Parts: sequence; C-alpha cells; structure tokens
Amino acid sequence: MEDIKKIAVIGAGVMGRGIALVCVRAGFETILFDMGQDMLDDAHGYLHDFFKKSVAKGKMSQEEMDASMSRLSTTVFLETCVADLVIEAVPEKLSIKHSVFLSLEKVNAADTIFASNTSTIPITQIAGALAHPERVAGLHFFNPAPLMKLVEVIGGVDTDPVVLETLTRLSATLGKTPVQVSDEPGFIVNRVARQFYLESLRCVEEGVTSPEAVDRIMESTGFRMGPFRLMDLIGVETNHAVSQSLYEAFFYAGKFRPSRLQQKMVDAGRWGKKSGRGFYDYR
Ligand SMILES: NC(=O)c1ccc[n+]([C@@H]2O[C@H](COP(=O)([O-])OP(=O)(O)OC[C@H]3O[C@@H](n4cnc5c(N)ncnc54)[C@H](O)[C@@H]3O)[C@@H](O)[C@H]2O)c1
Repeated sequence: MEDIKKIAVIGAGVMGRGIALVCVRAGFETILFDMGQDMLDDAHGYLHDFFKKSVAKGKMSQEEMDASMSRLSTTVFLETCVADLVIEAVPEKLSIKHSVFLSLEKVNAADTIFASNTSTIPITQIAGALAHPERVAGLHFFNPAPLMKLVEVIGGVDTDPVVLETLTRLSATLGKTPVQVSDEPGFIVNRVARQFYLESLRCVEEGVTSPEAVDRIMESTGFRMGPFRLMDLIGVETNHAVSQSLYEAFFYAGKFRPSRLQQKMVDAGRWGKKSGRGFYDYR
C-alpha cells in the first residue's frame, strides 16, 4: 500500500470516471484512459461538476477540489498507463479485458497490481491469460462509485494474498468498506441481485405489470431505486452483458437466463441515461 502512489484507471465510462474521482479525492495521482478524447472530456467534466457540488455543500474546500483535479491526467494512449496499480473498467467482455491487460503487461513492472472492476467474470479467467496471475485481483466498486461504500475484493486461484491485503487497505484509504469475497461468478452482490433485475423484467415481459409500477412498488418498500430505474443508471447494455456472463458462468442455469426484453432494449440503443432513453425517457 505504501508503494501505491500512482493509479491508472482504464475506461472512463460510468464506472471508470467514478473510480478515478475516488482515487484523486483520496490523494492519488491518477491517469484515466479511454479510446476517445470525447469520453475523456466528458469524464473530466463529470469530476469537475461533482467536486463543484461538494464545495457548494461544504463537503470539501475549493483548495481541496483544485488539488484533486490537479492529480487527474487523461490519455488515449494505453501504453502510457504505467502505474503502481491499474484498475480496469472496460466493458464486461473477457476478450476486451484480456486485450487491455495483455497490452498493459508490456509496459508495466511485474509487480504492478492489475485489478478488474468486473461484475461477474471470474478473476481466475482474467488472470489465466496473463504472465503474472499472482498480481491480478478483483476490485469491484458499485455505482455511483463516489457514493457507494461497498467494494468487493476478489482473489483468483493464483492471486498473492499480499495483493488482496494491499487492495483491502487501499479501499479503506479510498473511504470504502472492503469485503473480501471468493472468486465465484457474480461474487456476492451481482449473484444475489440478479433476480431483482431478471424477475422484474419477466413480470413486464409476461404483461404482469409495467416498469413504472415495479419501480414504484419496490421504492415504496424502501429500495432507493427500483430495478428499471437502476438498470437505466447502470446502463441497460451493461446490465444485460452481466446477465449473459453470469448465465454462461453458471453453465446456463435457467434461473440466470437473460431477458429477451432487455436484449431488445439493447438492440434498439435504449441503454438508459447514457443514451438518453432506456426504460425511461431522459431527453
Ligand atoms: N455500470 C455499472 O453500474 C457497473 C457497476 C459495477 C461494475 N461494473 C463493471 O465495470 C466495467 C465497466 O462498466 P461501465 O458501466 O463503466 O461501462 P461503460 O460502457 O460505461 O464504460 C466502458 C468504457 O470502456 C471503454 N472501452 C471500450 N472498449 C474498450 C477497449 N477495447 N479498450 C479500452 N477501453 C474500452 C469505452 O469507451 C467506455 O468508455 C464492466 O466490467 C462492468 O461490468 C459496472
């Protein structure tokens, strides 16, 4: 932990930008990568606006905001992402995660920790293709990353226990509540929460009720957000990819069968807040 000074966050989407915010806020020099400058500019604006609101609410000073923003740098060149810790937040697809880590292993030292924010892909599968599986672990933040306290810390078959301890202590330094969990599909939270989404989608598919009604009912029972509002926040396509990945990982067990309605939403580009339209209209 003492050795972690610089963090690289790969992917500046819904999660990557939030994770980068958490890192710079906690004092770490952070380099944020994405494939396009537009995405990086958008992410930069997100951090700026979030901190601005924190200053207005008296949660941080202007000086703290300026110092946090000055710790952030952005890049479209993956080979410049040299750091003590890499946190990957690219789409939920094993081939994409492998290609990112395979490129990063060429430029990073052998003891740089490689952490994945994957929701469901076993860490052992990610680590299996890499030269140093002992430095690979899961570091699973929740959405929105700057606000949600829980972080799942996951070790694969070959992960060095020192790496897990380092990430657990780092999470606490980031102001999070880390929980070490075993490397099973969906870890704990996504495995348990999957039925919250899938059964709700089935209710709508079968004409039992509407997304608005499901959300109203769940929110009236104490859930901060109903499943459809939450899928729009997460990204409907990301939530669907998570379902597909879990379904495969559990050898096609029926209870994890993805939803055709959700597939249709993905095909139609109704990805939720990020695309302006999902189960709700944000335009
Ligand atoms: N959205 C959530 O609520 C949530 C919560 C927890 C974990 N996760 C996990 O975090 C990861 C990222 O999810 P997200 O919601 O931030 O996705 P996202 O689609 O919002 O962002 C992914 C980013 O990765 C970039 N990217 C795409 N292909 C790439 C490639 N080949 N190389 C490098 N970058 C690439 C994209 O440009 C995009 O900005 C996934 O593994 C997801 O399962 C998501």
